[in-house]
Amino acid sequence: PKVTYIRAGHLFDATSDNRRDNVVIVVEGDRIKSVEAGSFAIPNGSTVIDLRNATVLPGLIDCHTHLTARADRYDPINYFKGTPFTEGFAAVRNAHSTLLAGFTTVRDVGSPPFAAVDLRNAINDGFISGPRVVASGPPLSITGGHGDVNGFSPETRVTLFPDQRDFRIADGVDQVRQTVRAQVKYGVDVIKVLATGGVLSQGDSPGAPQFTFEELKTAADEAHAAGRKVAAHAHGAEGIKRAILAGIDSIEHASLANDEDIALAKEHGTYFVMDIYNDDYILGKAVEFGLPAANVEKEKMVGRTQRENFEKAFKAGVKMAFGTDAGVYPHGDNAKQFKYMVQFGMTPAQAIRAATFNAADLIGRSKDVGTVEAGKFADIIAVSDDPLANVQALENVQFVMKGGVVYKDKIANTAVA
Ligand code: ARG
Repeated sequence: PKVTYIRAGHLFDATSDNRRDNVVIVVEGDRIKSVEAGSFAIPNGSTVIDLRNATVLPGLIDCHTHLTARADRYDPINYFKGTPFTEGFAAVRNAHSTLLAGFTTVRDVGSPPFAAVDLRNAINDGFISGPRVVASGPPLSITGGHGDVNGFSPETRVTLFPDQRDFRIADGVDQVRQTVRAQVKYGVDVIKVLATGGVLSQGDSPGAPQFTFEELKTAADEAHAAGRKVAAHAHGAEGIKRAILAGIDSIEHASLANDEDIALAKEHGTYFVMDIYNDDYILGKAVEFGLPAANVEKEKMVGRTQRENFEKAFKAGVKMAFGTDAGVYPHGDNAKQFKYMVQFGMTPAQAIRAATFNAADLIGRSKDVGTVEAGKFADIIAVSDDPLANVQALENVQFVMKGGVVYKDKIANTAVA
């Protein structure tokens, strides 16, 4: 396999909060072979990527995306305007933007039936470019819950959403078990359940629990038996508590977590994945794109509290992984969340590790991604400004390599030494 040498002025490898200066990263095929001191003798005739004026980091990981979603479609009537192709086309474009923004791995936690699974496969085949995708199926929802399509006549149920009963809507432990098994059968990597109401859904309340403890435990046990992790959308305190006690691996949003939830998450080692950027977009742009007033009111109830609870949970020692709900805002803007993570209590190094080392742990891929170390995939990004001084440097990623292949290069001088 081909060997490439990357000369890095600074390396934040994400194994700790520290950075190193002046190193050579040896890439062989799609993996990192070794990380050497700057004095390492690069053999004559080698391909050398010169990032001596940059900070090199592991490819970023977003644990909460919806790659099929467009952030310019907020009118609920859009449910009736598209076809599966609408979402397929969006996914191809969104995957590309995400990769070029420096996110070389994402977990997709809800795209209609199996779009994320197909997308993952097309990217892995090399047919289209995009990040590594850890794919869920459609999120499991109770009837009338956050994942159901509410507010229309009963006629719409069977004619327009035939997949709902098979792969998405589940009531009672038997249906939950069957749905998880069906999703596993069709190739998902992770199970997503909706444990409370939501902000952007119609007719439900973010604070209200959805699914009983027994249903959530069935989802978690069934997913784990199949070697899959399980993520729970949960804003409200009671839903968060049930999900943690059910053995779910991550709480998504965690907006209204109370002290008991925070203590339980810490005790159980449950990750919080808190999307604290998108409030800006929802209260700004989404309104222009047709978001109903009721949803705006719901956002106002959770946005500010979620940011405060991010700080509270982090300071209490809850494990945090980076996740943004991309698709709510435009794909490719994922790094805009770092600023808020720093504003609400993390150092830049801690925020970056949430999006690399911790994220890899949560998604169960630490053997392959999340750090720049020998043996990992050569998923490597670079920025010219210092992200440890100003984390917003990550909003402008100038170099992206995934699996040893360069997808973007705005700074390196690649030459044969
Ligand atoms: N998908 C989520 C929901 O509809 C978005 C929540 C966004 N708001 C927030 N403050 N994180 O519930």
